[in-house]
Amino acid sequence: MTQNFFSDDAVPLELLRERAFNLRWAQQPADVIPLTAADPDFRTAPAIQEALVRYVRDGVLSYVPPEGLPRFREAVAEWMRSTRHMSCNPEEVFATDSAASGMAVVARATLRPGDEVVIPDPVDFLLHHCVERAGGVAVRVPVEPETTAAQFIASMEARITPRTRMLWLCNPHNPLGVVYAREWLASVAEWAVQRGLRILSDEIWSDVVYSPHRHISLATLSSEIARKIVTVYGFSKNFALAGLRVGCVICGDPEWRQQIIAASDAACTVYGVSVLSQIAVIAALQQGGEWLAEFVSHLERQRDYCVQRLNQWPGVRVIAPAGTYVIFPDVRSLTDDSEAFCEYLREHARVALVPGAARWFGPGASGHVRICFATSRGILQEAFDRMQPVVEKLAGMKVR
Ligand SMILES: Cc1ncc(COP(=O)(O)O)c(C=O)c1O
Repeated sequence: MTQNFFSDDAVPLELLRERAFNLRWAQQPADVIPLTAADPDFRTAPAIQEALVRYVRDGVLSYVPPEGLPRFREAVAEWMRSTRHMSCNPEEVFATDSAASGMAVVARATLRPGDEVVIPDPVDFLLHHCVERAGGVAVRVPVEPETTAAQFIASMEARITPRTRMLWLCNPHNPLGVVYAREWLASVAEWAVQRGLRILSDEIWSDVVYSPHRHISLATLSSEIARKIVTVYGFSKNFALAGLRVGCVICGDPEWRQQIIAASDAACTVYGVSVLSQIAVIAALQQGGEWLAEFVSHLERQRDYCVQRLNQWPGVRVIAPAGTYVIFPDVRSLTDDSEAFCEYLREHARVALVPGAARWFGPGASGHVRICFATSRGILQEAFDRMQPVVEKLAGMKVR
């Protein structure tokens, strides 16, 4: 690699201030550092930029097939086979205009009003949001980083009813940073299959995993489990393509897949994924591997730095995430109200974090904050330097 894509001077601050929304640079006062939405502060890979420019220059921008471009579906299937040993055919891949929309369409296709879906608590708000928007009921099951499969199963067992239809998992887990081991996943998936539940596995974070941990795709566990699973995958986190709104759903059951495609309304062109977004993904998967590996090494160093700095916050408990680029410290030694704590930090340290509020992650996030570290070391260091004295002051006077 001749260029360092992740150095301090690689962050295009002026462009981010103009273009990075969703609680980030474009939505904060100029002197606030946002470590908020999980979206990298770096440019996407050069191969992706070039593929987009080439396609646009060719000037033909016609309709594409509702399931996605054949080359998109082949590229995803090949990526799943080569990086996860998933037996995935192109026909099983359905392009969606984001991972979020993949979850939403699976919910619409699979749930009837009042159907219950078991989800972890805490977890990214999109899980409960998509279930509820489809008329379902999200049933939250507490998880902590150390929760064993047996404990998780016992908690689910206590909460399922005849209306329970699905289990939704997030692996790697946002915001806990847990990467589930094969045995954990196998026990939980076998339990779900025995109970007649289908599973949605949100694996959008699966390329951001730190050694020695390894991502195991739920659909690779056994062919019996694979038939009951829809995998949701995306390109916002791994390849910094959030603004292109592109993801996919992988479903090995042909009947279920047809229901999902029908629920998407893509065949009627009401919805569908922009051809440019699909071109970007093809380039990412076929030529972006080296960039991604470099990105993950940078993130691993950033993760270690965050742990070291958070350990200096009085009484704060932090676990190094095994995957994702968010870290989720327990700040109850400093505050009874993480929302007030974040407000205080924003005002006095000029750093924005995401509070562990129920609307973002469920009630199980209480007492925590989420910090995104997909930025340069310079920016991260500046953010921690600003927060340290404020946090030390707070340690003496719990913010309420
Ligand atoms: C766990 C999880 N699932 C899904 C998404 C949505 O990704 P996309 O940008 O592809 O909609 C996110 C984004 O934050 C996420 O963290």
